[in-house]
Amino acid sequence: MPVLLLGVSGGIAVYKAVELTSWLRKRGWEVRVIMTENATRFVTPLTFQTMSRHAVHVDPFVEGEAGVEHIDLARGCDLVAVVPATANLLAKYAHGLADDLLTTTLLATRAPVMVAPAMNTAMWEHPATQANLAILQARGVEVVMPQAAGELACGEEGAGKLAEVTAIAEALERRHRLAGSLYGVRVLVTAGGTREPIDPVRYIGNRSSGKMGHALAEAAAARGAEVTLVTSASLPIPAGVEGVRVQTAAEMEAAVSGRFGAADVLVMAAAVADYRPVQAADRKIKKGQGPMVLELERTVDVLASLAPHKRADQFVVGFAAETNDVLGYAEGKLQKKGLDLIVANDVSRADIGFEADQNAVTVLGATGVVAEVPRMPKRQVADRIWDLVVERRQRP
Ligand code: CTP
Repeated sequence: MPVLLLGVSGGIAVYKAVELTSWLRKRGWEVRVIMTENATRFVTPLTFQTMSRHAVHVDPFVEGEAGVEHIDLARGCDLVAVVPATANLLAKYAHGLADDLLTTTLLATRAPVMVAPAMNTAMWEHPATQANLAILQARGVEVVMPQAAGELACGEEGAGKLAEVTAIAEALERRHRLAGSLYGVRVLVTAGGTREPIDPVRYIGNRSSGKMGHALAEAAAARGAEVTLVTSASLPIPAGVEGVRVQTAAEMEAAVSGRFGAADVLVMAAAVADYRPVQAADRKIKKGQGPMVLELERTVDVLASLAPHKRADQFVVGFAAETNDVLGYAEGKLQKKGLDLIVANDVSRADIGFEADQNAVTVLGATGVVAEVPRMPKRQVADRIWDLVVERRQRP
């Protein structure tokens, strides 16, 4: 029986969280409720206690059976949802404040988190609220959007009304199915642009930031995969992921080829250099009067070199960063490198692709385009890509 930790913050929509509790219990969920002090002004804890058949938690200064209550609650659930999530709750969560039982538990949990905001239209549209939401989404928090239009309790018409209870419940069930969708699957992800030394202080690099690859690793770990991330980016290694730091194409090739045999899925999101200086100077090169010529040689194409060793049970995803004829080139790379899927993105656009926090991609398989993913945070693009991998591994 899946366990949902339901956080309830204070807004007029609290009564819908009561309805949600009842709905989920009937569908076999065990629901544990934490209310903020303000939420208890709208509905008493007894209402949630009756609906959930468990004691409701409000006060952070109560000892749990195994020690500390917020840690016990945070550990013992499959999923966390905050319904309704007020502007204040979103702001505190986005900035890591922990001044009551709910915000403390949100910080302490490793379970997937979903929030369903509800508030007045002006508060919803305020740049502060939207910026807080973007921070949370970038961290993998799923947002069940409020209704786009409707009459609000304050008498205003507009966006901000809590999503329908059935929409929230369906999103929760979908998220729960996904949470274990890569359980025990061994995933190898590469990220970042490699750096090829010219001398001890200079290198040939590219504009890849590694954000997409790191988001892919984080999203896979959240689905229960055993993840190894081979990265040349200086971003932090996501929680629960084994990190391998590399710099050059040769190091990337060694790290990946040595681990490929033990992987079920390889996602090659790294921008690996195609050329490197034939010789890296061991001292800093001093400038002269005339032009300078650097002699470059080809590096190993990691993906192409692995293709002959790929087993039937392995699944390989490549990326194609292009500035023109995006689909044409991507299709060619899919075939040439023996890939199951290729994720193509147009890196000539400044709002997506290299260095940006958002991305928009087209995913191709052997039969052509399998998905168009519109512009969204890279963490969400990562989840769309994993949805396709999960689906296709099951039904090749
Ligand atoms: N790739 C690789 N080893 C390389 C170069 C690229 O494994 N030496 C992988 C990338 O990680 C990516 C895919 O191949 O998944 C496509 O990379 P991309 O740079 O777009 O294409 P290239 O094959 O290098 O072709 P070109 O540079 O001519 O576009």
